[in-house]
Amino acid sequence: MAKAKTATAAKKKITPAHRAELEKRRTAPINTPTDLSAEATKNLSAALNTLLADVFALYLKVKNFHWHMSGPHFRDYHRLLDEHGDELLGLTDDLAERVRKIGGTTLRSIGHISRLQRVLDNDADYVGPQDMLAELRDDNRDLTGRMREAHALTSEMNDVVTTSLLENWINDSERRAWFLFETTRTTV
Ligand SMILES: [Fe+2]
Repeated sequence: MAKAKTATAAKKKITPAHRAELEKRRTAPINTPTDLSAEATKNLSAALNTLLADVFALYLKVKNFHWHMSGPHFRDYHRLLDEHGDELLGLTDDLAERVRKIGGTTLRSIGHISRLQRVLDNDADYVGPQDMLAELRDDNRDLTGRMREAHALTSEMNDVVTTSLLENWINDSERRAWFLFETTRTTV
């Protein structure tokens, strides 16, 4: 109780000048030092943030299908999608922090993701297991293509680190598409 009173008293001591200073700090741009040009940072950040929105959207779709999986192969499919979900979630942090390292700002909310994402949501009440896997196979194939587009830009801008990271991310994306392709294949 005494502690709460002290905290309240401290709060009341904030002067208008102090408040103005706090406001200024809250809205100050957070420019990370970088040797990239402002134009390069802007273009690279835009491309990576759009890719990040796609990865978040795909992550949630993978979890959606993981949660709503059904049928005789439930255990295998449920686990496969859990692995893919973990990979995609890990990728989100690497992508977002890469944007910050090159001097940009990144995504701030689910709303921000929904404004940028190119991956289509699937809110259907029921999706069959084969349809789920086929849809994710195509989504991963499309994601690979978008990563290649980003790779062309990072190469052009001489952002060698993101270029190198993208090469690994493309490999992961191709592997996910490969597993989903083989799992959905009905003929040998
Ligand atoms: Fe789970």
